Amino acid sequence: MKYGFFDDSAKEYVITRPDTPLPWINYLGSDGFFSLISNTCGGYSFYKDAKLRRITRFRYNDVPVDNGGRCFYICDGDTVWSPAFLPAKTPLDDYRCRHGLGYSVFEGKKDGLGSELTVMVPQHTDMELSKLVLKNETGSEKKITLYSAVEWCLWNAVDDSTNFQRNWNIGEVEVVDSTVYHKTEYRERRDHYAFYYVNKPIAGFDTDRDTFLGKFHGWDDPQAVAARTSYGSLASGWAPIAALRLEITLAPGQEETLLFGLGYVENQQDKKFSAPGIINKEKALTMQQAFSGPDQFDAALDELKSYWEDLLSRFTVRSSEEKLDRMVNIWNQYQCMVTFNMSRSASYYESGTGRGMGFRDSCQDLLGFVHLIPERARERIIDIASIQFADGSTYHQYQPLTKRGNADVGSGFNDDPLWLIACTCAYVRETGDFSILDEPTPFNNEAGTEVPLLEHLRRSINYTIANLGPHGLPLIGRADWNDCLNLNCFSNTPGESFQTCANFESGKAESVFIAGMFVKYGKEYAQLCDRIDLKEEAEQILEAVDTMEASVMAHGWDGAWFKRAYDAFSRPIGSKENKEGKIYVEPQGFCVMAGIGGDEIGKQALRSTDDLLGNEYGIEVLYPCYSEYHDYLGEISSYPPGYKENGSVFCHNNPWITLAYCTVRDGNGAFDLYTRHAPSYIEDKSEIHRTEPYCYSQTIAGRSAQNFGEAKNAWLTGTAAWSFVAASQGILGISPDYDGLMIDPCLPDKMDGYQLSRLFRGTRYDITVGRGDQKGMMVDGHPIAGKTAPLTEAGICKVEVII
Ligand code: GLC
Ligand code: GLC
Repeated sequence: MKYGFFDDSAKEYVITRPDTPLPWINYLGSDGFFSLISNTCGGYSFYKDAKLRRITRFRYNDVPVDNGGRCFYICDGDTVWSPAFLPAKTPLDDYRCRHGLGYSVFEGKKDGLGSELTVMVPQHTDMELSKLVLKNETGSEKKITLYSAVEWCLWNAVDDSTNFQRNWNIGEVEVVDSTVYHKTEYRERRDHYAFYYVNKPIAGFDTDRDTFLGKFHGWDDPQAVAARTSYGSLASGWAPIAALRLEITLAPGQEETLLFGLGYVENQQDKKFSAPGIINKEKALTMQQAFSGPDQFDAALDELKSYWEDLLSRFTVRSSEEKLDRMVNIWNQYQCMVTFNMSRSASYYESGTGRGMGFRDSCQDLLGFVHLIPERARERIIDIASIQFADGSTYHQYQPLTKRGNADVGSGFNDDPLWLIACTCAYVRETGDFSILDEPTPFNNEAGTEVPLLEHLRRSINYTIANLGPHGLPLIGRADWNDCLNLNCFSNTPGESFQTCANFESGKAESVFIAGMFVKYGKEYAQLCDRIDLKEEAEQILEAVDTMEASVMAHGWDGAWFKRAYDAFSRPIGSKENKEGKIYVEPQGFCVMAGIGGDEIGKQALRSTDDLLGNEYGIEVLYPCYSEYHDYLGEISSYPPGYKENGSVFCHNNPWITLAYCTVRDGNGAFDLYTRHAPSYIEDKSEIHRTEPYCYSQTIAGRSAQNFGEAKNAWLTGTAAWSFVAASQGILGISPDYDGLMIDPCLPDKMDGYQLSRLFRGTRYDITVGRGDQKGMMVDGHPIAGKTAPLTEAGICKVEVII
């Protein structure tokens, strides 16, 4: 069943009831100020870093699951209700949540009073802005008391939820006119504060949470609201909040519009105070003036919409498959932006306190983002490469605020370095900007160690070459893409991290998956070398690639599929010899994409993959699932069968299989798999799937799980980028290349063609693909040999392709 519908013309998903199976969220902000917002207006905001600079509080694992956020209470007679249903929980006569691109709208109605709440982060501001329109649709006057409240986080989200002996003493605020300023720790080393304001005079306020809520009340039913009053409390320690109260009279048919803003300000050290102890509010006041009326809000919303219109126009398709178009044109690209911004840090499943930016994750996220804003991709590539070590290995993660490698998680994930080649090559093919290869880039962020970025790529490729095991296959280290295949870990201590515990130095555990990556990205690296006249190096790498291919065929092919790995005792994993975990998805994807063994081997591997790993939602990670814990396998066997890495559909690697089908030119196989878990195609199974039908989730419970088909970990997953690559470059077949735009569709029989518009190196390619006997390509009316529409400065290029 469905809980809403797609409105493609508005680029919105419209949720028609508040009780979605899980909170269905959206993201606001695209640069520094970010917010998460659920379909009942829950969530939180932060500046750049969800751990270190958390602006409002959110309690993960709370009951009910989605408390807090932006709390609005409309008191109309005896009834108290919230325009987005929560926190008041009063049943509404009408409810709708429209999640759009960078904004969310909540439409509510109760007893003839209509409300429309629109929330966004305007472009180029550090502020979340809400416009609330109230309309009296009855024939008699209404006197309304309106409250709006947010709860401040004391900046560091981890400290905020643990260090109470200190934190219950430090909270400080100032209140001036209709604004509450949150200035905890500003007296000492912080140079930033936050504020919450409304653009009309208030009738009262509270800033101390416990005064506002009262004893034994929660956010669903604050004492102050129940009493229709404010206590004027000034927080001193404990939990500072901003709760504003307005008294509004609405004549019949009358409408009232209010703007609420949640802002973040940084001041220079010498401009922190306007008087002793009093914060300098200059910037905050400028921001409030910039958004003091509805017209300014509407203009900012228009600007945001045209920003997205423009971004998405870089790649649009029109085909007979509405659900494909909707993913490609809107939601998949949108999710690529979100994963680019968040990596795996902040969602309703990622607490924003654990993981920062992942090396491999961010590299892969770029594959689906680079066409949108290449300049930001460029900057990101340099940031990522800067946490690499001189030997080519790398930190696994970094914190976005400091951009420093995260020592807690450390390094030793042996696939990491190769992903840097993947994203850099993708960037250069997209932009033609070879100058990035010369960009001075440090090792481990140490000044003085800078070398050209190209040298980082070189060390990446050579890291694999220098770390081979007994079968000539790459050593796996702590893990490869599958974080949970920890073959050197042997952990038997409860609670110990599988990724950071002391490793048993087997020197033997090898990864067939990394071998596949090496062949694929080794070829890409050689091609890049060739382009910049490093012919000898290109040849050298291609030789290493050939050797690796031979090792895979000799020791990594199991007869009907690719093996997964060799363990610390050189026993095969993912082989018919195993009792459980006989076959794994990852090497089938990467070895086939890399072309190892040729098409017939590839087709055989894909047949085995679908036969043994396929279910109605896609391809499971492995089969049969591990029924017991094995210390020589690590975390993967810690999950109950069918969940996460132990045999769920881990969506991230499904597009690899889609692309593998395209590699062997099986358009039906590719499309069939694409549609099994593309959110728009499974929208009507929302009660089973449970996560948002407009974005990919990381994992869908497999056949062995009790809750088969249930998804978890929505939004922040490499599935976004890879699905966009699979759809745009695989199925639709549009791949940026050094000399032009390659057009090589791999369509299912049910699709006869499509029309597509792709902005590439400053020229818009208007592409029509159809079927016919006269196969080939016409560019601006002229036949062209091959499959690449050449580069042009014409601005517009018309391409017709018959397949
Ligand atoms: C998570 C991680 C990613 C990893 C995957 C498989 O999605 O973010 O880095 O590759 O799990 O373990
Ligand atoms: C991967 C897994 C996740 C695990 C993490 C670190 O991201 O998906 O389950 O927590 O690795 O172990």
